[in-house]
Amino acid sequence: MPAKALSGTIPVPGDKSISHRALMLSALAVGESRVTGLLEGEDVLSTAAAMRAMGATIERCGEKDVGTGIEWRIHGVGVGSLLQPQTALDMGNSGTSTRLLMGLVASHPITACFIGDASLSKRPMGRVIDPLSQMGASFTASLGGRLPLMLTGASPAVPITYRLPVASAQVKSAILLAGLNTPGITTVIEPIPTRDHSERMLRGYGADLSVETESDGTRIITLRGEAELKPQTIVVPGDPSSAAFFIVAALIVPGSDVTIQNVGLNPTRAGLITVLRAMGGSIEEIDRREVGGEPVADLRVRHSALSGIDVDPALAPSMIDEYPVLFVAAALAKGRTTTSGLEELRVKESDRLSVMRVALQQAGARVTETEDGLIIDGTGGEPLPGTPEGASIVTHLDHRIAMSMAIAGLASRNGVSVDDTSPIATSFPNFLALLSQIGA
Ligand code: S3P
Repeated sequence: MPAKALSGTIPVPGDKSISHRALMLSALAVGESRVTGLLEGEDVLSTAAAMRAMGATIERCGEKDVGTGIEWRIHGVGVGSLLQPQTALDMGNSGTSTRLLMGLVASHPITACFIGDASLSKRPMGRVIDPLSQMGASFTASLGGRLPLMLTGASPAVPITYRLPVASAQVKSAILLAGLNTPGITTVIEPIPTRDHSERMLRGYGADLSVETESDGTRIITLRGEAELKPQTIVVPGDPSSAAFFIVAALIVPGSDVTIQNVGLNPTRAGLITVLRAMGGSIEEIDRREVGGEPVADLRVRHSALSGIDVDPALAPSMIDEYPVLFVAAALAKGRTTTSGLEELRVKESDRLSVMRVALQQAGARVTETEDGLIIDGTGGEPLPGTPEGASIVTHLDHRIAMSMAIAGLASRNGVSVDDTSPIATSFPNFLALLSQIGA
């Protein structure tokens, strides 16, 4: 049976991208930084463990005042003073931890071994190995530029000017983080803008960083090393990529009316909302404000009759993690939704094009996979038919597949089961609890 109407007001956990960066930059600032709203998911805890292994003191201090949230205190070592880790850095499932920390290590006189789980060990690291090698770091990687890999940083590293061959905030950030301890000007040229948390936060911590935007939208980011970072007090806004599951849930379950609090709306992250509104979704922003230097609002989302659209591939970087759940919305929309320009989805925690095609087909959706996208013919609001025994989904250690298909299950006649919900804890430990809080 499809779910009954969802209702209520829920928070979402802190932004994963900002949480990683808050720990890394605080660990490089001399003195004590304080962070509230930190995402306490496994990916971010992998970053915390690695920064501790390289000398930072990181403590979870509990709630400072009623209602202010858990405070984390970080004593940094200073740019240039990361210590040699004594054991391998276990990155778990986290690509962001891996690529950004490779950047940090690349310009320090230390050697680190990076290891990860089966999913992370399949993901390409050549995209960061290339620029960081140009800066002087040396690598011994597994076949195909993958983990496990050994990295020895350069001291001093050489500043480079690097034009990003893929639209990737992780690659951009790895180079900028390496640039912190590199004498001179490190420049990243970004033809297609990606999430800009690193730029905003590096400036906030006192780095000399500037961004120039050319008439065609290309961004030129320059950072002067060697930088001195100052400790900060950071409030991490709610993660729009986590809010996405609840936005789509409320849109596709008839009668729903859900408010999601404190959702980050940085324009480099907000593509899903643009697309869902174009499909007819009712998403209202309440109390737009600023949290931690980022725009946020509460979002009131009501069930809506969605229509299929051609999704502009130019929006991809601003919603790259949201496609799995967009595909679910498309499967319930009226008419055809076409997506393209999504080659990058094949190298996320799983091949999200192929895994979502199979999963949605099992749930009874009509889906065609192309080289760089999915074409989905929606039910027009009817629940997904599935099979009488219910769809049984293989998640391939991918949190966003597990959560997206759980949402699909809410709008399915025979339900959906996923083989493994444990990956959800990498980014959204209380996902299932919040789902039941709104009545699912
Ligand atoms: C992230 C960048 C994106 C995104 C990931 C987080 C970041 O990866 O998919 O979940 O925090 O910089 P890419 O840089 O590979 O696009």
